[in-house]
Amino acid sequence: MAVHDIPMFGVAWPNPASFGCGSIAGIGDRLRRLGATRVVLASDAGLKSAGLVDRVAELLAAAGLHVSTYTGVSPNPREAEVEAIHSLWETEACDSVVALGGGSTIDAVKGACLRRFTGRSLDSLFDEGIHEAPREPLRFVAVPTTSGTGSETTLGAVLKTPRRKLVLRSEHLRPTFTILDPELVLTLPPRATAATGIDVLMHALGVLTSNRPHPLGDMVGAEAMRRAAGHIRRAVENGKDIEARSEMMLASYLAGHGIHLKGVDAIHGLSTPVESLTDCTHADSLGVIFPHVMRFNMPVAGARYAWIARMIGIAGPDEADDRAAAALIAHLVALRDHFGMPSRLGALGVQPSMVPELARQAQLSAATKGNPRALDAAAAAALYEEMI
Ligand SMILES: [Fe+2]
Repeated sequence: MAVHDIPMFGVAWPNPASFGCGSIAGIGDRLRRLGATRVVLASDAGLKSAGLVDRVAELLAAAGLHVSTYTGVSPNPREAEVEAIHSLWETEACDSVVALGGGSTIDAVKGACLRRFTGRSLDSLFDEGIHEAPREPLRFVAVPTTSGTGSETTLGAVLKTPRRKLVLRSEHLRPTFTILDPELVLTLPPRATAATGIDVLMHALGVLTSNRPHPLGDMVGAEAMRRAAGHIRRAVENGKDIEARSEMMLASYLAGHGIHLKGVDAIHGLSTPVESLTDCTHADSLGVIFPHVMRFNMPVAGARYAWIARMIGIAGPDEADDRAAAALIAHLVALRDHFGMPSRLGALGVQPSMVPELARQAQLSAATKGNPRALDAAAAAALYEEMI
């Protein structure tokens, strides 16, 4: 689509960020410049035992900041963890928050920001949306220690209550500042590197095929795809490969910005309901779903898939679209299988009886609405059936 064919569009460039090895050293100074004095530092038990939480706490204390630490975030952040971070924020009279961790920690902190600024429960926010203006300046620094979710720059948070898992979006949720330090990812194990890397690829793919036109979204989506596709294997096979780690971290960040500009596709739209009804991981669910949605999308998105295949060098410039698109699907499936990720929803705990509810929830997703080919509840149900 030529630029003059595209409807009016807006752009908000990502939040300010610093990128580079060792950039974590500037975190205290950054918070002080935001006006922070008392900080909630939220993280998980793994990073605590690895010593990273203490290192960051020391950097904050050295800048004269009071630090209250919470390290209870789990891989699928739940309401109780959001409440714990919020409660610490209130009882310690903090004025700022740092999320140190993967997407789970960043999203749990986003949930705490919503609790702080709205005073409402997550279920109420899920049901009624978010309309409140912030009651105070947001001072929220995100420090990703994985390269995957893009949550370090998006306006969205994926959160789970006892009733459901949903994506919440609000201007209050974009981190005020993001520190992208590839050295913080060097110890991430291969399995988690693969899982988060697949998420980056699916974000870039979803951005590039979403039905919402945005030339800058395409630009960052393509750059994220090119960098992630070229370095995911290296990052998994040698975690100490700082170049591959840097490329994946930048790809995650760029894909996250692409999500903000264009949204994603039904790969994510069909994934969130599976994660809502089971305890599977985001990546395992995506890994099962993507080939099915891509094949469903072929009549509409085949040429786009072919363009991506040529861009990442797995199809030649003269290859026919259908062959190049098929090569892209095969390439991504081979990557998933190489990483040992599941290929059926049954392995993730999905039962045939869940299909109507999965299909119903998929229709509520903005990602499903952004799919290049319209995907109604009947089509979603048929896809779920074939994936079990
Ligand atoms: Fe994702």
